[in-house]
Amino acid sequence: MCFLTRVDENLIKKKSKLIGHDEIFNSCKKVIDLVHGSDRELVDLCDELDIRSINIFYGETGTGKTTLSYSLAEYALNKFEVETYELKFQDIITTELGKTLANFHLAYEEVNRLCSDGEGIVLFLDEFDRLLVDRQQSNEVSEMKRAFISLMDFFQSISIERKITILATTNCFDQIDSALKRRFSFHYKVQCDDLALKECKDRISKKIPDSLDYTIPEGYLESSKTIAELKQKVRSDIVKLI
Ligand SMILES: Nc1ncnc2c1ncn2[C@@H]1O[C@H](COP(=O)(O)OP(=O)(O)OP(=O)(O)O)[C@@H](O)[C@H]1O
Ligand SMILES: [Mg+2]
Repeated sequence: MCFLTRVDENLIKKKSKLIGHDEIFNSCKKVIDLVHGSDRELVDLCDELDIRSINIFYGETGTGKTTLSYSLAEYALNKFEVETYELKFQDIITTELGKTLANFHLAYEEVNRLCSDGEGIVLFLDEFDRLLVDRQQSNEVSEMKRAFISLMDFFQSISIERKITILATTNCFDQIDSALKRRFSFHYKVQCDDLALKECKDRISKKIPDSLDYTIPEGYLESSKTIAELKQKVRSDIVKLI
């Protein structure tokens, strides 16, 4: 059984049209350059400061966390020819006793195998909250607890030489166990700003043919908290018109 699915390059290109989030994008890019590039000058310092390309993006739904991940995957692909894989937690966690922990170990082996050629990989842990259970709340001896500990150990074991970038996303950052949080080198809060909304409105507007005789109402900018919300409103309008 494979727990890692390769993310198709065409899908990466299609889903990576990011608007805004420049600061987060640039910061992640720098660390991707350090980890996947050939310049090893800063390796010792990175080791000391725990600078690894292990990132978690958190924030409300529709703020662009997944889009940001795809954009970074595209960057790594274009610059370093690094392939992206998605870890499927829903396949790993099973009700069969003793199987979940074994599956986690198989998944780590898969990651190690994929990295053995020295090229490295990008690993998506999208909607990381699916596997969240506060370790405090769970049974001391439960298998899930051991699986979590193994996941923490795995994160901890990722050295810069392995050339792994992890991009995790979650809507429920507060519910993540703080010991697990600490294993991510970088935590980024992703939120939509007015400038990004405006840019998105302009981008969509350019794609609306004159024949539809439709202009996105200005009010949509104020009433939308995220690009996803803005798109939703325009989508409904357009469908009524066509
Ligand atoms: N910054 C952005 N740039 C481009 N598209 C965006 C951005 N933010 C949101 N979108 C659009 O809104 C939709 C939802 O975005 P996305 O899936 O990245 O959000 P999310 O934060 O991952 O949401 P969720 O927490 O529900 O998974 C997509 O159609 C995407 O194209
Ligand atoms: Mg998402």
